[in-house]
Amino acid sequence: MRTQVGIIGAGPAGLLLSRLLALRGIDSVVLENRSREYVEARIRAGILEQHTVDTLTDAGLGDRLRREGLEHRGIHLQHPGTRHTLDFPELCGRTVWVYGQTEVVKDLVAAQLAGGPPLLFEVSDVRPEDVDGDAPRIRFTDADGTPQVLECDVIAGTDGFHGVSRPVVTEAGGRLWERTYPYAWLGILADAAPATDELIYAWHPEGFALYSMRSPSVSRLYLQVDPADSIDNWSDDRIWDGLSRRLDIDGWTVSTGPVTEKSILPMRSFVSAPMRRGRLFLAGDAAHIVPPTGAKGLNLAVADVTLLATALTRLLREGRTDLVDAYSDTALRRVWRCTHFSWWMTSMLHTTGDDFDAELQLSQLRRVCSSEAAARELAENYTGLPIEG
Ligand code: APR
Ligand code: PHB
Repeated sequence: MRTQVGIIGAGPAGLLLSRLLALRGIDSVVLENRSREYVEARIRAGILEQHTVDTLTDAGLGDRLRREGLEHRGIHLQHPGTRHTLDFPELCGRTVWVYGQTEVVKDLVAAQLAGGPPLLFEVSDVRPEDVDGDAPRIRFTDADGTPQVLECDVIAGTDGFHGVSRPVVTEAGGRLWERTYPYAWLGILADAAPATDELIYAWHPEGFALYSMRSPSVSRLYLQVDPADSIDNWSDDRIWDGLSRRLDIDGWTVSTGPVTEKSILPMRSFVSAPMRRGRLFLAGDAAHIVPPTGAKGLNLAVADVTLLATALTRLLREGRTDLVDAYSDTALRRVWRCTHFSWWMTSMLHTTGDDFDAELQLSQLRRVCSSEAAARELAENYTGLPIEG
């Protein structure tokens, strides 16, 4: 087997990269170790920045998004007794969209299987090889158990945090930065109409809570919990009680309904640099993780592959190396901006049990809710800064 770009991992990063390359006449093959059902059922975050919506639309993936996605013009920031609205168009001229990453992945898989480049599910033993030369390859075992070799011009490692690509880059050198946070999120999906127009980010002495949504009849809500806690300790009643206390404001109530999914998600910041070794390029969660508080993970993956698609096209069509050589540094500037923003939102909103921390957080929240400059800084980052490159 031979292709121009061998792509490891069919998450949003790998699938979108394949699509963007195909639109520019570059071949690729996507190798995924899980099944289609598994990949399409994974529940992840649900906020798309304006540039993500534009990129998906330009790639011909905007139909269902525009039909079923919900455009949001701001967020509510809450601390006890106060619910303040940030109006994004007024502050920075942009909006965001609520459309689950699960739905983005379903749209990408459907487009790929309808005449797009090959997408192979349930492969195993995936190994990038000879990435320092001009003719790298990927060895893998296909779904029937037959060993295969995919010869490529370049390899994209879009295989997420636990993939095989990053170790190949880091064994040649580079640096990692990591921060684990002393809290986690308990997330639920509920068949309940959202009781709010915009997402609510709430600081509360008992811990952070977030009211998000997936559709006019499905809510997605989160509670800050201890990372060592078990989901078995959280009955649906206990979750709803916690949510209604932490989100409480006069004259308003959380709307409840059957909980269809619940789980506890760890929170970490992680950056690996460089995002390249020879002809192997990393993008998305394979190179960096942000805590979910600013909903940046998917958007950052889209920004990476937008840059990478342009750089690889220049390399493979014109033989010019300027953009692939700049890729890692250019991508990492956005990665660190989003890493900072996600850390800042996380640090402002999650209680630590320390009274001094709590007063600093409340002071910062009051500042964002009273100063247009402070609010604009949040709004510009939340809705997504323009992509460099
Ligand atoms: N071989 C093939 N595929 C692999 C391998 C492997 N060895 N290891 C992992 N994968 C697959 C995973 O099963 C997954 O489908 O790679 C894919 C990586 O996808 P994601 O983890 O979704 O990462 P990415 O595409 O970078 O998406 C960005 O944004 O909201 C955040 O973390 C969230 O996944 C999201 C991310
Ligand atoms: C979500 O809807 O899953 C979501 C929304 C906003 C966030 C994080 C997650 O900041």
